Amino acid sequence: MARVRMRVDGVVYEDEVSPRTLLTHHLRDGLGRVGTPIGCDTSNCGSCTVSMDGDSVKSCSVLAVQADGAEITTIQGLADGPEWHPVQKAFREHHGLQCGYCTPGMVMAAVDLLKRNPSPTEDEVRHGIEGNLCRCTGYQNIVKAVLSAASELRGEGAHPGAFSTPPAGVPA
Ligand code: FES
Ligand code: FES
Repeated sequence: MARVRMRVDGVVYEDEVSPRTLLTHHLRDGLGRVGTPIGCDTSNCGSCTVSMDGDSVKSCSVLAVQADGAEITTIQGLADGPEWHPVQKAFREHHGLQCGYCTPGMVMAAVDLLKRNPSPTEDEVRHGIEGNLCRCTGYQNIVKAVLSAASELRGEGAHPGAFSTPPAGVPA
């Protein structure tokens, strides 16, 4: 067993874990962060995405021992108290989810994208979230939500029709 210490959603935890324990299992089973779902066992889907020391990572591809000393934010720590993060609000406003399974990882990936690129184009949003798979939405409203959140975070207010150009097949 190995001793690991990490700050998760603002709270410091110190635990004994097996050296083979994945961060995603430690977060879910050890620390109750069940808002971080497991959608695959191949590091493909991105549903388990969290922020680790400021970068988004697929927590199923990181060992808990690799996160020793790290600052982790999960979807459960993203809101500012009762106030949702602008990306969370935008997903709700623009219907960026259906079943919701991909949503925690998608939101965390979008937050990271907007931190690195506050004014992304539609293509840059699509490229930025390409490691996160959604089986329900067709991505259109997810992209719209991320563009709207970007506008909100830049202080320009939420953007109702956030596409710079209409999506293919949709009349202008
Ligand atoms: S559960 Fe981590 S990428 Fe699918
Ligand atoms: S909303 Fe169902 S997988 Fe994305």
